[in-house]
Amino acid sequence: MKKFSSIQQSFTVSYSYQVHFTEGIFDYNNPFFMELVDSARNESPVKVLFIIDQGVEQCHAYLKDEIRAYCKRYASVISLKSILTVPGGEVAKNDAQLLNRCLNAIDTNGICRHSFVVAIGGGAVLDLAGFAAGTAHRGVKLIRIPTTVLAQNDSGVGVKNGINWNDKKNFLGTFATPYAVINDWSFLETLDDRDWISGIAEAVKVALLKDPDFFKFIKNNSLSLYNRDLDKMKYLIYRCAALHLEHIAGGDPFERGSSRPLDFGHWAAHKMESMTGYRLRHGEAVAKGIALDACYAYLSGLLSRKVLLDVIGTLEQCGFDLSIPPETDKSELFKGIEEFREHLGGRLTVTLIEDIGKPVDVHEMDFERLSEAMDTLRRFCELKEVN
Ligand SMILES: NC(=O)c1ccc[n+]([C@@H]2O[C@H](COP(=O)([O-])OP(=O)(O)OC[C@H]3O[C@@H](n4cnc5c(N)ncnc54)[C@H](O)[C@@H]3O)[C@@H](O)[C@H]2O)c1
Ligand SMILES: [Zn+2]
Repeated sequence: MKKFSSIQQSFTVSYSYQVHFTEGIFDYNNPFFMELVDSARNESPVKVLFIIDQGVEQCHAYLKDEIRAYCKRYASVISLKSILTVPGGEVAKNDAQLLNRCLNAIDTNGICRHSFVVAIGGGAVLDLAGFAAGTAHRGVKLIRIPTTVLAQNDSGVGVKNGINWNDKKNFLGTFATPYAVINDWSFLETLDDRDWISGIAEAVKVALLKDPDFFKFIKNNSLSLYNRDLDKMKYLIYRCAALHLEHIAGGDPFERGSSRPLDFGHWAAHKMESMTGYRLRHGEAVAKGIALDACYAYLSGLLSRKVLLDVIGTLEQCGFDLSIPPETDKSELFKGIEEFREHLGGRLTVTLIEDIGKPVDVHEMDFERLSEAMDTLRRFCELKEVN
């Protein structure tokens, strides 16, 4: 008699969603949003809960009225249940009460798997609303409307969400594909300069890993981007989002392996964000993390001095301050490497570059060399030179 038996279970699920680029999504005469909701309709009308970033609401005083008027006009398709406003920025991911508020709103408004949560905001609010939508009823449909550069070119177009727990960045989260993403350019006009610039870091990151021509574009247009040239920024967002989407589709969308090839500069970025009490924006921390890891790659003999200067010079020209924050204790910062490994599991894999467009994985980081990399970066910030 056999001691055990097994049943082999196996199935494939394919995922697809569209990322749209448009303007004036809630203009009274623009049917696009209504048609999107209609495309999923198997009850009539579809219940919709909006979760809006307070920072967006403050800068777009008529947004809620526009949404109400829009939903009234298309009432045969959209049943507006409620508009919930939550604080924007990292506090959205740090405060468990806010998750509770989102879940309560989903519950009390009868949002089910045939309804929609529509999240409008920066990456933090999209992460919060996405986590609530991804876990309530084991996942209700989500439309993301990202409103910052970083959310439009990176965080809002992917398949992940995450909130912070016990001071650990993105400790709680799910992989959950959105129903659709709508990047509406008109939101970008009200960003303050920090949030305008911050998202450029993710574009530099993906360009350095995958696309030398895109890096050249950023380098040649860094001053226009810094000076808020909207057309240049639209191209940057479009190309960056496309590269992220290509990567997700072609690789390991649910991160089952031990490497996260798009996370160049991120082990240090995540740690610096939490060490500074989230005073740094994610993109600002990513720029510092890229600069630090590029210095490390240079000291490891992987990257030439010329390319290093190109990378950190371009980041600076885009408006980034690359100095490591004074409150960043070295040994505490280096703990970020083990936390990064633990988050993914398995063997440590940190992606560096050996040239523009040429990623390389390393499986250990030497603390002494990292310390030298910090000194190299400091020298560059103070004297604009690299030895
Ligand atoms: N889920 C993912 O895959 C993923 C990927 C990358 C980053 N992220 C997360 O994204 C977050 C960072 O997102 P972010 O850079 O968009 O910043 P953010 O969400 O922290 O927003 C920054 C500030 O901008 C305000 N704001 C948003 N849109 C505005 C607008 N149109 N006009 C005026 N003010 C506006 C917000 O209220 C907030 O005060 C981090 O928590 C990061 O971890 C997630
Ligand atoms: Zn990032």
